[in-house]
Amino acid sequence: MKRLVLLAASLTLTGIATAATPPAIYTAAQATAGHADFETHCSMCHGKNLQGIAGPTLIGQSFASKSNNYTVAAIFDELSQQMPAGAPASLTNTQYADIMAFILSKNGYPAGTTPLTFEGAQSSTVKLISQVK
Ligand code: HEC
Repeated sequence: MKRLVLLAASLTLTGIATAATPPAIYTAAQATAGHADFETHCSMCHGKNLQGIAGPTLIGQSFASKSNNYTVAAIFDELSQQMPAGAPASLTNTQYADIMAFILSKNGYPAGTTPLTFEGAQSSTVKLISQVK
């Protein structure tokens, strides 16, 4: 009986941990490349630490809280079609995917083994809820 209770408790804990961990949808190499592109093309308006200057913050709850209900596709659409403000859609598909990877990494999404493609980001239904306060 005692063993059953322990098993149930550990299953519950595992379930919670799985639900709280966002999926790995980009690689670490992409986030590194995206960091450099962000510094060159985005940081003058969004800040080196994504904290916001002339453009809004791209990190934390004031960017992507649960109630914003963003998907990766929705943010990627704005990012790749409207940004950089002043020269919309002027970067390459690879640069946009890398920058999306960088923004995900800064918001607590883990890197994995599958690269994020431009098309994949455009159609991604993955929820974007910042893991950062
Ligand atoms: C000249 C200033 C400027 C530059 C450069 C710029 N942005 Fe923006 N960005 C803005 C402003 C202003 C807004 C808010 C108004 C809007 O959505 O058009 C915005 C909005 C956004 C949003 C939507 C945020 C939200 O909460 O909905 C994202 C994502 C974004 N920018 C990403 C980027 C990326 C990535 C780059 C670099 C490729 C970039 N921006 C370059 C000014 C800029």
